[in-house]
Amino acid sequence: MKIKRMSATFLVAAAIAGTVLPLSIAAQTGQSSPVAASRANVEKVIAEAYEKYKGETRGKNADYIPYLAHVDSKLFGIAVVTTDGKVITMGDVDYSFSIQSISKVFTLALAMESLGPDEVFKKIGSEPTGRAFNSPVAVVDMPTHSANPLVNAGAIATASLISGKDKDEKWAKILDFYSRAAGEKLVVIDEVYKSEAASNEGNKALSYLLAKYDRIYADPFESVDNYTKQCSVGVNALQLARMGATLANNGINPKTGEVVIKSEDVPHILSAMMMAGLYDGSGGWAWHVGLPAKSGVGGGILAVVPGKGAIVVFAPPLDEAGNSVKAQEVIEYVANKLNYNLYSPLSVGWK
Ligand code: DON
Repeated sequence: MKIKRMSATFLVAAAIAGTVLPLSIAAQTGQSSPVAASRANVEKVIAEAYEKYKGETRGKNADYIPYLAHVDSKLFGIAVVTTDGKVITMGDVDYSFSIQSISKVFTLALAMESLGPDEVFKKIGSEPTGRAFNSPVAVVDMPTHSANPLVNAGAIATASLISGKDKDEKWAKILDFYSRAAGEKLVVIDEVYKSEAASNEGNKALSYLLAKYDRIYADPFESVDNYTKQCSVGVNALQLARMGATLANNGINPKTGEVVIKSEDVPHILSAMMMAGLYDGSGGWAWHVGLPAKSGVGGGILAVVPGKGAIVVFAPPLDEAGNSVKAQEVIEYVANKLNYNLYSPLSVGWK
């Protein structure tokens, strides 16, 4: 969907002037958030959080994907992109890490684009499992089997929903969609893909379990392969924050102005993130932070503040549930300081 929403006023003004002036994206699209975060506030709080948590040493890199065990565990970057396009960064924000499970959010968005939210809900489900992200027990136990689009089984089933004449065409669609959400071309980190493809017996087993219950919608191993590729896409914290800001900005990329995600799909995506974005850590996350978020075993967490922006923290050491320790601490700190918790009336300006 490559159309841009242009306001009538903008088009008329451009026609009268005979030229297109370099207006902001908000002006070009005729849409903007009334609550975008202010730069001064965000800069101050991000700097405080960076200082407070840079010495945190708890957690351990994921090692079930051999590549991830060797990533420098001291890397630490924070990026915020607001819905009006402001960018605030700190630390290692140029380092390209594998997006891992955070990709699940965007494949979900792509599946909804063609099938619509009701069909995706029917085919995948949206119940939290309370179990590890790669649990085969959840596939057996959950009434829908695929559980939700953000655990491995549900994500493989979601990847199987992407249409195309063959595996490569489906993959090209996925990568193009991620790139449009990021506002720049993204690529797979080949070493991650190879490392993960050589060690993903667990995901292959999940795909066959799903097949047993008729909850996968294309060839199981083919779907696992595209899912493995999507997890191996490289992003830096800034690119990922822009992908999140696209969700925060009602589906419009704040950098390019492109409508990447349908506005009516956004609440479904964010509610799935709130429910299951941090797996069996999701309840604690909702309790303490109150923001839709998604973690990846590469060490990233993306949190979305609807209407305001997105924050990404990248720091590889993970807790038991597979969520970056530092990223959780930083986002909780920032959300509390800036009244971002969606369940608090303070988040909508209550004084
Ligand atoms: O399939 C896997 O296990 C990984 N590619 C992704 C898992 C993941 O990122 C879980 N996140 N916290």
